[in-house]
Amino acid sequence: MSRALPSNGHTLWYAMLTAIAFAAAFSVPARSEDVLSPAAQRGSVFVRTNCSHCHSIDKVSESPLKVAPPFRTLHLRYPVESLQESLAEGIITGHPSMPEFKLDPGQIADVIAYLKSLER
Ligand code: HEC
Repeated sequence: MSRALPSNGHTLWYAMLTAIAFAAAFSVPARSEDVLSPAAQRGSVFVRTNCSHCHSIDKVSESPLKVAPPFRTLHLRYPVESLQESLAEGIITGHPSMPEFKLDPGQIADVIAYLKSLER
């Protein structure tokens, strides 16, 4: 292995430092599943405020309202991107207790980013 590297000691040292710096810069925090993109973080706040009293918005809990599907299960039924249109036009479900929501495009992108983070 070391034979493949240039014999110059400085170069080898530099290569090692670069490798260490690279590993440090890109190292994944221990609980990577908790690290959300900024969009997903905003989406998380939005759904916690607007949806979480009926829907489960995390990876483990039951929905407070039993008939409301936990958000982590939505992608099993359809790609969450397909909600984009319904969120813009006002999502209407077969269930009267689900209020109609109309989100602006920024909020939609954030919510979908958050929903995608639940798929992992
Ligand atoms: C007052 C309770 C309540 C709130 C608040 C609520 N929902 Fe729902 N939601 C429901 C219920 C009940 C259903 C199940 C409807 C059905 O099966 O017909 C549902 C279903 C859904 C579905 C699945 C629709 C489908 O046909 O697959 C989505 C997506 C959804 N809700 C998104 C949201 C979002 C996003 C928010 C917050 C902006 C939200 N809901 C807030 C009660 C709620």
